[in-house]
Amino acid sequence: MNKVSKKVVVGNLKMNGSLDFNEKHFNQIKIALKDVNTIDIGICVSYPYLFQAQMIFQDSNISWGSQNVAKDEKGPFTGEVSVAMLTDFNAKYAIVGHSERSTAYCESDENIATKFSIVKSKSMTPLLCVGETLIEREAGIMERVVANQIETIRKKYGTNVFKNSIIAYEPIWAIGSDLAASPEQADHMCNFIRNLIHEDKNNSIDDLKIIYGGSVNSKNALQLCGLESVDGALIGRGSLNAEEFIKICQIVNSI
Ligand code: PGA
Repeated sequence: MNKVSKKVVVGNLKMNGSLDFNEKHFNQIKIALKDVNTIDIGICVSYPYLFQAQMIFQDSNISWGSQNVAKDEKGPFTGEVSVAMLTDFNAKYAIVGHSERSTAYCESDENIATKFSIVKSKSMTPLLCVGETLIEREAGIMERVVANQIETIRKKYGTNVFKNSIIAYEPIWAIGSDLAASPEQADHMCNFIRNLIHEDKNNSIDDLKIIYGGSVNSKNALQLCGLESVDGALIGRGSLNAEEFIKICQIVNSI
């Protein structure tokens, strides 16, 4: 099975930060990680800070991105931000389908699929979040839930759309809690996703990274990201503390 060469660590700052905070935070991360070169590193910021992220990270090994994107290319969509606008700031990543959006803003799997493909169309890297609720896990249907999320995209755009992209397995019960998935759970679901994508033997999907997100910190990063099936991590709270984020990146870099 196609394995990716580099692991990836992406920070999701969510609705946090300010010009002042970011200035210190981004520079601290940039300086401390300047020699870390066996992993890809990204920071996804709120839209107003894309320019600041670009200015600080443009001459570094750290990429930047957004936490969402509009599903339409342009037009009368008040408050939306198009993928072309993201590319104006050289953003590399766009998170799509984060559960905090799909739950709070009723984002459908259909919309997420459109967003995924629009990000691909501009040669950015979509970071698709998939995962089940606690009730769904307790009911034992986590595989079905995750498969449905992925199949909605595949049905519309084919397996090839997953080339050069990232899927984050993020069980909703693990996000913002202090309960990360166990290495066994993460391993099982990341393998499940990989097998699902690669079961289409007509297409070889290069450089699809399957990562884990949900309460990753410097204490569990080695166990989770050290798994062969886990190509890296999506970090929420841990990316708000520069020392913690740096430590996580160094740990993953050492694997
Ligand atoms: P957390 O968030 O690391 O704070 O659990 C992860 C995420 O929402 O991507």
